Amino acid sequence: MTRVIKKSKDFIKLRNGKLFSDKSVGFIPTMGALHQGHIALIKKSLKQNDITVVSIYVNPTQFNNPDDFKKYPDTFNQDLQILKKLKVDYLLHPNYSEIYPDNYNYRIIETDFSKKLCGKFRPGHFEGVLTVVMKLLNIVKPSRAYFGEKDYQQLQLVRGMAKAFFLDTKIISHPTIRTKEGLALSSRNLRLNKEQLKVAPEFNRLLKSRLPINEIKSQLKKLGFKVEYIEKINNRIFGAVYLGNIRLIDNVKI
Ligand code: PAF
Repeated sequence: MTRVIKKSKDFIKLRNGKLFSDKSVGFIPTMGALHQGHIALIKKSLKQNDITVVSIYVNPTQFNNPDDFKKYPDTFNQDLQILKKLKVDYLLHPNYSEIYPDNYNYRIIETDFSKKLCGKFRPGHFEGVLTVVMKLLNIVKPSRAYFGEKDYQQLQLVRGMAKAFFLDTKIISHPTIRTKEGLALSSRNLRLNKEQLKVAPEFNRLLKSRLPINEIKSQLKKLGFKVEYIEKINNRIFGAVYLGNIRLIDNVKI
């Protein structure tokens, strides 16, 4: 049975009680619209922990574009069925005031890597992500927390935060889950129309192509993508593009 808990204080009470004592807890924070990428993280947690907790909270402070926030897919009933089927123990499903009793007056700021790649184009995004992740980790106090490599920059920043603030939680990653055509799974894919879905896998194909960055950009443009950035850092190539007004990100190891 999946127990749904909406109040932070109820979750904290539970976590401090007998049910959780001496048990390992795995935690997967999500914004809902669950797909196979989330499911892979959940399955890993179910395998590695006694108790698995998933949160569904569409965090307003990480959206620099209000329209993107408004249009973020909401498939709550379907998500709950998925969690029940997987036998997830707890779903934390708080509202704004449960997470931001301070009205976002207190924040986690990273001053270096968060300003690069996506951070350059989405001011305040990683501040919102790190702040909400810190809050959720403090509510759930998991032994392990799971993040996908699709959001590689997020994963690295969360790892850095856990280290910088001496958090007890171990941060565990999982490779990006893709469609058989190569498109990285993302909740935002639900907003792509048929034509966009057909061309979207070209993004991954070109990132993997080893072509020079300018050539990747020009081929993407020819295919109808609007390119935000394509950048190589260390042994990884990162990119963000738009199809219509839907933003896609991806990264591959080279
Ligand atoms: O990756 C996401 O879905 C979100 O950024 C997260 C980690 C749940 C924080 O809101």
